[in-house]
Amino acid sequence: MESAASMRKASSHASLADPDDFDLTRLLNHRPRINVDRQRSFDDRSLSELSATGGRGGWGGGGGGGGMESYESMYSPGGGLRSLCGTPASSTRFSFEPHPLVGEAWEALRRSLVCFRGQPLGTIAAVDHSAGEVLNYDQVFVRDFVPSALAFLMNGEPDIVLNFLVKTLLLQGWEKRIDRFKLGEGAMPASFKVLKDPKRGVEKLVADFGESAIGRVAPVDSGFWWIIILRAYTKSTGDVSLAETPMCQKGIRLIMNQCLAEGFDTFPTLLCADGCCMIDRRMGVYGYPIEIQALFFMALRCALLMLKPDAEGKEMMERIVTRLTALSYHMRSYFWLDFQQLNDIYRFKTEEYSHTAVNKFNVNPESIPDWLFDFMPTRGGYFVGNVSPARMDFRWFALGNCVAILASLATPDQAAAIMDLIEERWEELVGDMPVKICYPAIEGHEWQTVTGCDPKNTRWSYHNGGSWPVLLWLLTAACIKTGRLKIARRAIDLAEARLARDGWPEYYDGKLGRYIGKQARKFQTWSIAGYLVAKMMLEDPSHLGMISLEEDKAMTKPVLRRSASWTV
Ligand code: GLC
Repeated sequence: MESAASMRKASSHASLADPDDFDLTRLLNHRPRINVDRQRSFDDRSLSELSATGGRGGWGGGGGGGGMESYESMYSPGGGLRSLCGTPASSTRFSFEPHPLVGEAWEALRRSLVCFRGQPLGTIAAVDHSAGEVLNYDQVFVRDFVPSALAFLMNGEPDIVLNFLVKTLLLQGWEKRIDRFKLGEGAMPASFKVLKDPKRGVEKLVADFGESAIGRVAPVDSGFWWIIILRAYTKSTGDVSLAETPMCQKGIRLIMNQCLAEGFDTFPTLLCADGCCMIDRRMGVYGYPIEIQALFFMALRCALLMLKPDAEGKEMMERIVTRLTALSYHMRSYFWLDFQQLNDIYRFKTEEYSHTAVNKFNVNPESIPDWLFDFMPTRGGYFVGNVSPARMDFRWFALGNCVAILASLATPDQAAAIMDLIEERWEELVGDMPVKICYPAIEGHEWQTVTGCDPKNTRWSYHNGGSWPVLLWLLTAACIKTGRLKIARRAIDLAEARLARDGWPEYYDGKLGRYIGKQARKFQTWSIAGYLVAKMMLEDPSHLGMISLEEDKAMTKPVLRRSASWTV
């Protein structure tokens, strides 16, 4: 985290002086009315698939459907674009609300809205007036906006999402520098804020691409989330015209270009620095973190759905397909861990050479941590945190595993096994507050070396085994996709019992997540929006279509031929 003042100074070059250079009004003018004239989006599914979840629809149906009007009245106190900027929202407009917390959450979410030149374009990270220093919690974070975007889309309010997508795309176009080094063109900001230019009396945007962030790490996840939000917007509204604009097509291509660039890689996974995602501090997630690999996979698939097969798009699409095939093979084979696999690793030989090696990464069985032998149930499995030469990070990370289910990176069997694991290890992975960001915490000497003695990431706190309410929406989505609604209900009940009473904290501490986090912000926006999204999805599972992709059969059979791969 960095103070707002220093951020302003450091990133002044990245300020957006005049955002009017893109014709937003043109887009806004022909934006679709949700549920009226709904077009088919890129990947609408057949009706037969809609019954799969047992709800009112399935995950192929997008966020439209006949239920929207009732949602408006149930969930949207003070809804509608006009009430977004300036006018306080009122929860008294509608007489029926399913849970008192829902109305309260909507009001809190609307209070976090940020307007730019009269139009809402995002939500700030936290509206915590009790906290002394705001650090950068007064900014719009791309990753934090994801559940907000989904909540607004599910509530039939796509304009704010449209505005966010367009403005962040403009920020991508800025030259990004750290000292004398230039970042890749595709990089998207971690966060941005609206500043008033006192001289000219106009508002401008100032963005942070990592040049102000702690550790100066660029957010690898931002571009992926941007693509995922764009696809959710398209799916929900049925309007392909935004994604098809030359500007969006270029934005997608730039993001893709940056992560598909050829280098010295021997793996299809994406090599990253520590702290480049939700865990934005040193936590030993450098290398090939599951969070980034799962998001990468999902973004590749979403990009493939949205790119136009014109001259430039077609070539990119071919590169994406090639990468997807290799990536899914690699992840499903080497990141996957269950009882059988653990037993195999436990018996691994080391120092094997040539293509016939079984222990391809030369993992020493002695490096398997003690906790894992007890933790691993006979039923269940998960994608481990990281795989690189002689290093497997066996920790569980919730976000990566949930996204792997949603993107169908996990096969149906693997997805079911992940849910089995959550059920079997409920106390460890959910406890009293859903959901633990990672398990287990690192402590003692390991904490010293891995985190660099980070006092915020002490054991069972914050990123180091803390519990993050925002992850509730991802767990709920994964539950719906795998048909495990009971798990979602149980988790939501737990959150409901405490979240509002505790003031919507950013995270909880302790092995079970019973304590409000040591330095947790209150009224953390993504805790609020995450709860709303979880509630709305459970109520109408067809919303899942915005954020979930069906299994692509072509990827289940890797095209890697025996001679071209290491497989035996
Ligand atoms: C913390 C989180 C990060 C989040 C930011 C704003 O730094 O680690 O993921 O985006 O707060 O809420």
